[in-house]
Amino acid sequence: VHSPSALFMSSTAKKAPGTAKLDIPWEDLGFEFRPTNSHVRLQYKEGEWSAPELVKEPYVNLHIGATALHYGQACFEGLKAFCHEDGEVYCFRPEENAARMQSSCRRILMPEVPTETFVDAVQKVVRDNIEYVPPYGSNGALYIRPLLFGSGPRIGLQPADEYMFIIMVIPVGDYYHGGLSKPVDAIVISDFDRAAPQGVGDVKVAGNYAADLLPNMRSKKKGFPISLYLDAKTQSTVEEFSTSNFVGINNAKKLYVTPKSRSVLPSITNKSLMQIARDEGYTVEEREISVSELEDFDEVLAVGTAVVVTPVGSVTVVDPTTGNEKVYEFGNHELGETTKRLYQRVRAIQNGETEDRHGWNVKI
Ligand code: COI
Repeated sequence: VHSPSALFMSSTAKKAPGTAKLDIPWEDLGFEFRPTNSHVRLQYKEGEWSAPELVKEPYVNLHIGATALHYGQACFEGLKAFCHEDGEVYCFRPEENAARMQSSCRRILMPEVPTETFVDAVQKVVRDNIEYVPPYGSNGALYIRPLLFGSGPRIGLQPADEYMFIIMVIPVGDYYHGGLSKPVDAIVISDFDRAAPQGVGDVKVAGNYAADLLPNMRSKKKGFPISLYLDAKTQSTVEEFSTSNFVGINNAKKLYVTPKSRSVLPSITNKSLMQIARDEGYTVEEREISVSELEDFDEVLAVGTAVVVTPVGSVTVVDPTTGNEKVYEFGNHELGETTKRLYQRVRAIQNGETEDRHGWNVKI
């Protein structure tokens, strides 16, 4: 691990990963907004995307009639770049994020950004902010947040004719305080839904996250850092956490189980972990998971770009009519063996410490 003070004194400061003069240690970044050098911006006008432009100021000058503001015509993505031991920086599966953003665009009638344009823009913005990529060994990453929204004005309900595609970058550490070493307690949200059965749950549109703000903040106040949603129609099957996908592990059967539902966001981390689990000899089941099946899991994980692989220590279900509580506990609130293994496998690939056999790392 490089010590931050040593990095500040480096004569090559500014050009190498991990040399930005942040006032906090690289090993303890958390997940919060921090200023960086620039973001990259493309504008869509008259049916065409402009060339990418690096912009210093973290502001946009937006028309007050922009469809993003009124009708929620906006989607985003989340991916990460990592510094390897040799100082080179790699981004994890950016083509997958490009494809998912394209699917969000199709659903809310926005122009798609071609995959090549998306990946080029990622490379451009990461290169311009290379000193903000946390150093190898710090356990941090450069979080990359692409955002695409309707910037043109409409007052009747219809898609805009102008759009903005922005990618900002932020150095981050653990999303949930304590990371892998501290399993989080989850609570089931029984009086709100995240996504309707035929709604927009399977795409990464901004409104999905707005819908979760109230229940999520309420759960946090009650002492549950993470909330779990059930299917909206029957309230009987597990869908996903506010921030991430759900995975249940049965160690005796070597089973990796994750919900299959039209209203769950297809997580790229989950897809990667499913591949790793198969490579490790697990049976992967993508299917409905009834709430009562929580009993059968030895380990429960929240998985996603931001949360990586977060162990879940318990899931509390409150009966909305009686108020009775049932608490499902996993692994004595300790990190489970499979959770640890999956985390280590995916992080080793991202850090360039093991063979990238599926070709997931893209050089910046
Ligand atoms: C991500 O994991 O990248 C997300 O976009 C989830 C968000 C709640 C931070």
